Amino acid sequence: MDKICILDMGSQYSHLIARRIREHGVYSEILPNNISIDELKRYKPIGIILSGGPSSVYEENSPQLSEGFFSYTIEKKIPVLGICYGFHLIIHQLGGKIKPFAHKEYGKTKLEILQPERLLDSLDKEEIVWMSHGDQVESMPEGFKILANTSTCPIAAYENEDLKLYGVQFHPEVMHTQKGEIILENFIEKIAHAKKEWKLKNWIEKAIEEIKMEVGPKNRVILGLSGGVDSSVVALLLQKAIGNRLHSIFVNNGVLRKNEEIQVIRTFEQELKFENFHYVNAKELFLERLKNIDDPEEKRRIIGHTFIEVFEKKTIELEKVYPDIKYLAQGTIYPDRVETSATSSASVKIKSHHNLTLPDDMTLKIIEPLKDLYKDEVRKIGLQLGLPESIVLRHPFPGPGLAVRIIGPIEKKKLDILRNADEILIDEIRKAKIYDSLWQAFCVFLPLKTVGIMGDYRTYEYICAIRVVESLDAMTANFAKLDWELLEKIGTRIINEVKGINRVVYDISNKPPSTIEYE
Ligand code: XMP
Repeated sequence: MDKICILDMGSQYSHLIARRIREHGVYSEILPNNISIDELKRYKPIGIILSGGPSSVYEENSPQLSEGFFSYTIEKKIPVLGICYGFHLIIHQLGGKIKPFAHKEYGKTKLEILQPERLLDSLDKEEIVWMSHGDQVESMPEGFKILANTSTCPIAAYENEDLKLYGVQFHPEVMHTQKGEIILENFIEKIAHAKKEWKLKNWIEKAIEEIKMEVGPKNRVILGLSGGVDSSVVALLLQKAIGNRLHSIFVNNGVLRKNEEIQVIRTFEQELKFENFHYVNAKELFLERLKNIDDPEEKRRIIGHTFIEVFEKKTIELEKVYPDIKYLAQGTIYPDRVETSATSSASVKIKSHHNLTLPDDMTLKIIEPLKDLYKDEVRKIGLQLGLPESIVLRHPFPGPGLAVRIIGPIEKKKLDILRNADEILIDEIRKAKIYDSLWQAFCVFLPLKTVGIMGDYRTYEYICAIRVVESLDAMTANFAKLDWELLEKIGTRIINEVKGINRVVYDISNKPPSTIEYE
């Protein structure tokens, strides 16, 4: 299958570039900037994109390309498109000059197109593009032609047809660049001539065949099913491939939403007719271990470790009955595997995400059928496989569940309050028909008591914060500007119907600088 490789220079947009390319029907993968040429050859790219990045090409330790990169692409006639930092890097490594610009340019800019062909084919004389840079190309090596400029940036796009090198100073992958999609399409189709072979339907058939081949006719597979989209889609693929030789384990960790366990059990056992579906109710154990713990990272650690312990115990029990259990399936998806920050040493750990990690001494072999997919692709596959919309379109829910939505120590009373408030919020959001347009909507329990008045009585109860955000990929998020009347209805219902809450506040923070979850 034709493939476009993106070499990541530390950009927050690398995944966005990769997704955009897949939306055009061409498979794409993100690789480290300094991948060796031998390794790069193994990917057989039909085109290469060098991403943007926060560094300056002339700085020490800034991301560079491996030696021999251009000899390889030029000899094999593989087109290369540089974006922002990548745009500078091509010029820098081939002997041109990059200089710091007096003032940084950030935001929408008018681009004047001098050559509306090849990369900029089908564009008007002027287009709006999105810029974010501090450096500029001052001079280019011989053979490079200017394709576009802006009032402050004389070289805003270039090409070298002979060497198949192209570049844009702006970001075609972000939606603020109005014709960005056409530019990427021009690169993929008119320059790289990539065939559109990336189709999810073919993917499903191939994935099922691959699972059958890998697992063989006798072996069994174990899977940790959370009821979220990723593990549910893995479960369905496996069910189609190996039927009841799939053993799914669903653990109740005590911090699930209201009636969540009932819904998951009903969906898989009754609706989807899963045979070896194992429900493990470990909520007492989790809640006991979480008692008096208020540090967010400690909560996550305890939940992660306890989960592995419970999961392992159940697996060992099952192995005694079914010695053919040889595989562990996981719902790892592409962004879990390829951290954009992997090439940047400046990345900082903000929160540890405790999803299932394999204990060192577990001897099961791993299968990760979704490891090359993005979330929106997983969702489409889920729908094609017949997974109910209630699961496919469900908002993301963190592994440590409600534990990170109760500030301070977890108690049963607080969990009950939060579950009831959250149920009302979701009910109203669904009734207002905006659930699917939001990234997440949830309540948070704030362990602060304030005074209120109900009827003739003074109350002294807790605060519930409402967090509703819009986002494309959770890397950044904006609080949703919900209708006042809707907010009023939600607030009134929560205060009237949930005992223990007498005040509701709406969270108006964006990410960054805040995060989506509270802990
Ligand atoms: P933050 O709070 O970092 O969250 O802005 C970004 C996205 O990740 C989800 N999230 C998690 N998901 N395990 C998960 O599977 C976790 O520990 C976890 N923590 C946060 C969060 O809900 C949001 O969608």
